[in-house]
Amino acid sequence: MSNDVSKDLKWWETATIYQVYPRSYQDSNDDGIGDLKGITSRLEYIAGLGVDAVWISPFFKSPQKDFGYDVADYCDINPEYGTFADFDALIAKAHALGLRLMIDIVPAHCSDQHVWFQESRQSRDNPKADWFHWVDPKPDGSAPTNWLSFFGGRAWSWEPRRQQYYLHNFLPSQPNLNHANEAVREAMMDVARFWFDRGVDGFRLDAVHTINGDCAPFEDNPVNPDFEVGPLPQDQQPFFRQLHDAAQLNQPSIQKFSEAIRQVADTYDDRFLMGEVDGDNDDAVKVSQTFTQAGRLHATYNFDLLEWDGLTVDGMKQAISHAVDAFNGTGRLSFAFSNHDVPRSATRQLARLSVSEADQQALQLLLLKLEISLIGSTCIYQGEELALQDIDDIPLDRMQDPWGIEFAPAFAGRDTCRTPMVWEKAQPNGGFSNANDTWLPVAERHLERAALDEVKRPESIYNKLAEFLRWRKSQPAMMQANQMGPISGGPREIIFERISEAQTLRCCFDFDTLTASFEEI
Ligand code: BGC
Repeated sequence: MSNDVSKDLKWWETATIYQVYPRSYQDSNDDGIGDLKGITSRLEYIAGLGVDAVWISPFFKSPQKDFGYDVADYCDINPEYGTFADFDALIAKAHALGLRLMIDIVPAHCSDQHVWFQESRQSRDNPKADWFHWVDPKPDGSAPTNWLSFFGGRAWSWEPRRQQYYLHNFLPSQPNLNHANEAVREAMMDVARFWFDRGVDGFRLDAVHTINGDCAPFEDNPVNPDFEVGPLPQDQQPFFRQLHDAAQLNQPSIQKFSEAIRQVADTYDDRFLMGEVDGDNDDAVKVSQTFTQAGRLHATYNFDLLEWDGLTVDGMKQAISHAVDAFNGTGRLSFAFSNHDVPRSATRQLARLSVSEADQQALQLLLLKLEISLIGSTCIYQGEELALQDIDDIPLDRMQDPWGIEFAPAFAGRDTCRTPMVWEKAQPNGGFSNANDTWLPVAERHLERAALDEVKRPESIYNKLAEFLRWRKSQPAMMQANQMGPISGGPREIIFERISEAQTLRCCFDFDTLTASFEEI
């Protein structure tokens, strides 16, 4: 896994990371659901792109209420995804192909099916009584505070056995763990050791800003005076200004967690910890800085380019400057334009930048080149290399995402970017699965861009991206330093320099001609 030109930097400081959503990558046993063996069978395709690492979203034991982000056992694999033998085969092959393997760990909450919660909910004095946030009702029986869940409704649910409420930032079936309890933190460290021992090269740590332990006193959030209610999730959360709730970002227990997991990571060779951090406007950057102080996480996953409605060119410039100003000279951040939680960049940026459908592939390639040219690592989401767009016509009775179902029909949720990968146009279900039915419908429109068909087409985005990634590896300015000059350019241009001791590279992204150019100066 050596890379001559990046010898001074750690692998993760310049990594291109390919995100796999396991449920939708490749089904190997005809049940209509992707699995680990399926991913293994497609690793040559991923390695052929020239990316450095693969990040696989959760495949742990889980009732799949939030498709794996509700973990019932962090050290077991959900049978529909395979076995440990399948996982070991996957990681061995990834390493043999020169790919690092990252997995998701979800430290802030687990599933209500986890034995920790099953025990905790039984009584107020069992050994795990304190592993979650249990709070007495108000005298009138109502919830302790007015805090809201990200997925709609209250952040509190009632437990009749304890006659108390428990806290959840997401679904009621995703209770928040109490990280003020050292035993919880230690249990999470055991999880980290378990997977490091199995050979994983790093973790994407889910929603670390929602870890909480020190939320008492439990106080109501103040009413937001400037707020009008509407049908979308974002029109409802701001009922209240989120001053006191569980997603409050500066709780000491959060950083105790980052420090503990870094200590664990440092007992292994060259492992990477990337925390998913969100927050309002300026907050996210400040919080990312806090998370990546010495002795904490290596990097955070930056949300600035993931804006749900897409960004104008000016919006992209601001988002990039905002993050780069805080992190220039370091690899402590990872950029992404798409993931399993937001509409695909090919869809939202096309609309936002008023680019015609005919130019959609050129736009996708430009966006990929842009994000990969920035400092730090980049996460690209499965299908971006094919310029896949979202699916906007999933009928309500086929919807799977609990967040989407809650807010339908005003809000389409996240199924639109989670439909199965297609591999060969001529195969049933585009080669994703031989099942009669797949967990989400296979998108007809994706068949024209089936992955293996695109590998054979010299002009495809897959091949052009692979060519770009190969070229980038030979550029000292991209690989030997994480230094960027200020951003400039006209209203439809983004221009900056990447600078290393050996080279200064002027990078220009033109959103009129939809071309990127790089010039050594
Ligand atoms: C994950 C989502 C998930 C949420 C709750 C996020 O940040 O990416 O898919 O629903 O955390 O775990």
